[in-house]
Amino acid sequence: LKYETARFESSYGTIEQLPEPTTPEVSFVGRSNVGKSSLLNKLIGRKSLAKVSSQPGKTANINFFDVDGVRFVDLPGYGFAKVSRAEKQRWADLIGGYFDSERSFNLVVSLVDIRHDAQQLDRDMLGFLVESELPFVVALTKADKLSRSKQNQQRASLARQFGLDPQQMLVTSSETGQGIAELRSLIEDACL
Ligand code: GTP
Ligand code: MG
Repeated sequence: LKYETARFESSYGTIEQLPEPTTPEVSFVGRSNVGKSSLLNKLIGRKSLAKVSSQPGKTANINFFDVDGVRFVDLPGYGFAKVSRAEKQRWADLIGGYFDSERSFNLVVSLVDIRHDAQQLDRDMLGFLVESELPFVVALTKADKLSRSKQNQQRASLARQFGLDPQQMLVTSSETGQGIAELRSLIEDACL
């Protein structure tokens, strides 16, 4: 993939009129603040094509990016407590509506913060992906915050907690670039 050609495509606050599913799609899901937009930027090699914020709840729409004919989809985060019930419902509808729609889900990148033990909403998300037989990989994020030995420990431990094969979990960092080359090749295998 020619990442340098990446460009913003469109943004949707409701799922009524998503772009036609005519291209392969790679979607990024995970809790608010887990690092979805940062990982997407790192993959693309651009500082801020997707908006990043230290405040959770930054991405409140579904944002589509075109990367050399592959669509990268930045979804709103789940599990952010500090928004109104109506807004929470809107985000849930967006995420649910997206996965309910008829699209080419080539790869779902499901992000989980490597520092924390398994949380219920992540179990739910991964359970849903397994159940729906969607191709996915778990990207453990913010690995730069842990030593290498701690990273390996957490990877094994989270795999156990989620009931997944450690092979399905990739240790990543948008700060250091750890795991980015591996993730790119998984994406290319899934899309090309
Ligand atoms: P929402 O859009 O709110 O759902 O958040 P998001 O999942 O898109 O997270 P975002 O990329 O905006 O990052 C949230 C915060 O985590 C920002 O302050 C980032 O700088 C930080 N962050 C993201 N990835 C990493 C990483 O790999 N390492 C470190 N140390 N910080 C990171
Ligand atoms: Mg975001």
